[in-house]
Amino acid sequence: MGKVGEAVNIADLRAMARARLPRVVFDYLDGGAEDECTLRDNVRAFRRWNFRPRHGVKLPALDLSATVMGQTLAWPAMTAPIGYSGLMHRDGEKGAGRAAARAGIASVLSTISGARLEDMAATGVPLFMQIYLLGGRAAGEATIARAQGAGVKGLFLTIDTPVGGLRERDVRNGLAQLLGRDLVAKARYLPDILAHPGWVADYLLGARMSHLPNVVIPGQGPLPLIDVASALQRSVVRWDDLPWIRAQWKGPIAIKGVLTGEDARRAIDGGADAVVVSNHGGRQLDGVAAGLDALPEVVAAAGGQCEVLMDGGIRRGGDIVKALALGARAVLLGRASAYGLAAGGEQGVDRALAILQADLTRTMMLLGCASVAQLGATHLERR
Ligand SMILES: Cc1cc2nc3c(=O)[nH]c(=O)nc-3n(C[C@H](O)[C@H](O)[C@H](O)COP(=O)(O)O)c2cc1C
Repeated sequence: MGKVGEAVNIADLRAMARARLPRVVFDYLDGGAEDECTLRDNVRAFRRWNFRPRHGVKLPALDLSATVMGQTLAWPAMTAPIGYSGLMHRDGEKGAGRAAARAGIASVLSTISGARLEDMAATGVPLFMQIYLLGGRAAGEATIARAQGAGVKGLFLTIDTPVGGLRERDVRNGLAQLLGRDLVAKARYLPDILAHPGWVADYLLGARMSHLPNVVIPGQGPLPLIDVASALQRSVVRWDDLPWIRAQWKGPIAIKGVLTGEDARRAIDGGADAVVVSNHGGRQLDGVAAGLDALPEVVAAAGGQCEVLMDGGIRRGGDIVKALALGARAVLLGRASAYGLAAGGEQGVDRALAILQADLTRTMMLLGCASVAQLGATHLERR
């Protein structure tokens, strides 16, 4: 398998990640819930639209920039929150953050991360924080106060995870045992791990994650990693948390995991500044609409009263163009960026973002459209 600099597209980075990671880690990143219908449909939805190019037009300098929740991005993307990024490469969230900063885009840090949010902010990337109230409201309050102090630009409240989706690959591969304390239970999965010595060495050299530094429970300390699944079930982010968070947080708030016009209206009524049309990369409720398919209903319901972002299935710059033409202001990059991290750490993310940005530029030129602000429904047709 070649070096990340030789990857031509995101699929190449995925193949490199697959070769480098033990199966249990690769499948955690790559897999989805149950039959993985939504996971596959997220990608396929983009193929159901064709471009309608305007040829022969004179193009002034391209303007790919977009302002999202008060931040101006060089192109309309940010890296999505990806839990357990430290498992993929020791560069983890901070490596991804530095790469995003170099690419001129923003980054959303997962609650389930091994990097302290203050250290992540110090990478210089415009940083947003994803919130799962894992340690209850008292821990959430402390995290929000730290985020404010560290200059975090906005919060993303993920509302689609009242319980973890059934990711069958993870059950079969023993992901819970790998993360747990029971050494005997781990032994069964050792051959897979040991067959990937490069990953093992990297993992041992890195700051192995045992606690969540951004979920500090008063009187108890950081939440142990093995308690995450049970903590998630006790601490769903609900609509009635929104006024409480709104009262503490002075910046913009996005609601992540909106798939219907009804939820978009609830978010706006609750004072959200943005919604993210997202099915969590097909990892939660299998059988919901692809992110791109849910986008028009949410855009219509939002009626310009909040910003609409989307994620799910973006593997090419042309996919970003399609999402914008259907009304998204920007996209979140989940696996596209994480495959880069898993394939080659910070450099791999550099490569993933360079591929997507070059794709985006080329697609805009081929489409005959000079600025992302001009993209609209007339640039697409349903196949
Ligand atoms: C390995 C992995 C971990 C994730 N962890 C989180 C998380 O901690 N919080 C969250 O809101 N979303 C999480 N997501 C969902 C992503 O933020 C994003 O919605 C999704 O990956 C977009 O789909 P895509 O991977 O097809 O781009 C995770 C996704 C993956 C693949």
